Amino acid sequence: MQCSWKSMVLLALASIAIQYTAIRTFSTKPFNLLCSVGLAPTGHAVNCSLKDLTRLGQETPEGSDRGCDEVSSHTPSSYSFSLPSYNASKRTHILILATTRSGSSFVGQLFNQHPEVFYLFEPLYHVQLALLPRLAQSRNLAERRVMLGAARDLLRSLYHCHLSSLESYIRPRPVNHSTDKLFRRGASRSLCSLPVCQAPLSSEEQNLVLADEGECVRRCGPLNVSLATDACRAKRHAAIKTVRIPQISDLRALIEDPRLNLKVVQLVRDPRGILASRIETFRDTYRLWRLWRATGHRPHNLDLGQINTVCEDFLRSVSVGLARPAWLRGRYKLLRYEDLARFPLQKTRELYSFLGLVLDHSVEDWIINNTRGSSDLSSRQKFTTVRDSAANAENWRVKLSFDMVVYTQTVCQPVLELLGYKTVFHPRELRNLSHSLVEDRTFLPFF
Ligand SMILES: *[C@@H]1O[C@H](CO)[C@@H](O)[C@H](O)[C@H]1NC(C)=O
Ligand SMILES: *[C@@H]1O[C@H](CO)[C@@H](O)[C@H](O)[C@H]1NC(C)=O
Ligand SMILES: *[C@@H]1O[C@H](CO)[C@@H](O)[C@H](O)[C@H]1NC(C)=O
Ligand SMILES: *[C@@H]1O[C@H](CO)[C@@H](O)[C@H](O)[C@H]1NC(C)=O
Ligand SMILES: *[C@@H]1O[C@H](CO)[C@@H](O)[C@H](O)[C@H]1NC(C)=O
Ligand SMILES: *[C@@H]1O[C@H](CO)[C@@H](O)[C@H](O)[C@H]1NC(C)=O
Repeated sequence: MQCSWKSMVLLALASIAIQYTAIRTFSTKPFNLLCSVGLAPTGHAVNCSLKDLTRLGQETPEGSDRGCDEVSSHTPSSYSFSLPSYNASKRTHILILATTRSGSSFVGQLFNQHPEVFYLFEPLYHVQLALLPRLAQSRNLAERRVMLGAARDLLRSLYHCHLSSLESYIRPRPVNHSTDKLFRRGASRSLCSLPVCQAPLSSEEQNLVLADEGECVRRCGPLNVSLATDACRAKRHAAIKTVRIPQISDLRALIEDPRLNLKVVQLVRDPRGILASRIETFRDTYRLWRLWRATGHRPHNLDLGQINTVCEDFLRSVSVGLARPAWLRGRYKLLRYEDLARFPLQKTRELYSFLGLVLDHSVEDWIINNTRGSSDLSSRQKFTTVRDSAANAENWRVKLSFDMVVYTQTVCQPVLELLGYKTVFHPRELRNLSHSLVEDRTFLPFF
């Protein structure tokens, strides 16, 4: 590529500059200090070492979870330097690792609806926009690396509630820590309710604001980042959804950071379902696929790149996850979207149990309100799935032509096998919805 080294240098410099401003205010405390002043279990004199912490962080959530990352409830004011001021008592940080049109908004809601979780919807959108404008999903390795470095730094800051780090990436640059340009702000309950949203609202209006993203943006006015930071600190846990991290190994540095207590939920979906959904949603990018569906002829210049990337990223991540490396112990759960669509309550309970969090009834209520057949009990309800975002996990089977399905299957064969999605060999098999293409598999987390 012409001039590519120049653009890479520029890109790297831009990234470093942005990261520098982002990190400047965020002083990383030496680990041992944190450990000796109160991150040790209450009332115990424990000398923490990095090794201890790693081990403790990997214990089962049900088991002894009194780790060095459990903050004593004593006030830190008697110490000579400041601890994080939020209540970090066994804070769990959750990352939903997903790709577009795989049901990630639905999974995000499972945390967004929890009153003790601070949820952010795609904050990395701003990193991508600032560093790689117009390059939606760069396949250039060097560019990807720069982006990922910035993305990791930002994630770390956000989990620590340094929301101002995000400001460096928002365009136009927020003034006085206030912005109306935060991507999908309305998708986060915390950012649409008190104290962040200070508009005087009746309880009816408040419900409207929480139910409708646009209403939130209209009623709540510009986002006050300082107030959002306070809201983040006031919550016990934080969850971030992203479709902008390709593979689990890209998160290794964060997962291995014992101070972060990061747990990753990798959401996967049948790539044929992802394809069908993207064709409907991203009409420009998938124009040639629509042409294929309309004409019955595969365009010669069809770009297989996007679906290839999905399958490669899935294959790499899931292979790593299923190989159960030590660094993922207790920190990785694979979730098939189809399973969640069929058994939303049961799968959500499993999810919370893996995370070691108490499932709040408001999450269950939300699931019941937003799904049909969520009684979970009978397999006859297999295909009466979730409304809205989770609608019809298998309805791609009537939306894609048989040729398109076969073509995709060929490209994605290894990952279909790995995840338990059956290939079809005949149109009759494809359209017969009483014949499920999702094999029963359980992907248990490992501890
Ligand atoms: C912690 O370290 C100090 C000094 O190194 C030692 O005297 C003390 O016994 C240690 N405490 C524990 C619980 O290991
Ligand atoms: C931290 O949160 C826990 C659970 O919400 C609560 O029991 C505890 O009192 C809080 N500690 C402080 C210092 O606020
Ligand atoms: C930012 O705050 C300063 C001081 O409070 C004020 O003078 C200025 O007008 C504010 N700028 C904007 C754009 O609101
Ligand atoms: C944001 O909230 C803080 C804390 O209440 C307040 O001091 C500040 O003036 C607010 N900023 C803006 C731009 O309204
Ligand atoms: C569920 O629906 C009921 C009735 O419409 C409503 O009162 C309740 O607030 C809803 N709960 C959630 C969590 O959406
Ligand atoms: C559809 O699949 C079911 C279950 O595999 C099978 O019993 C049935 O005969 C199939 N129907 C048709 C029309 O192929």
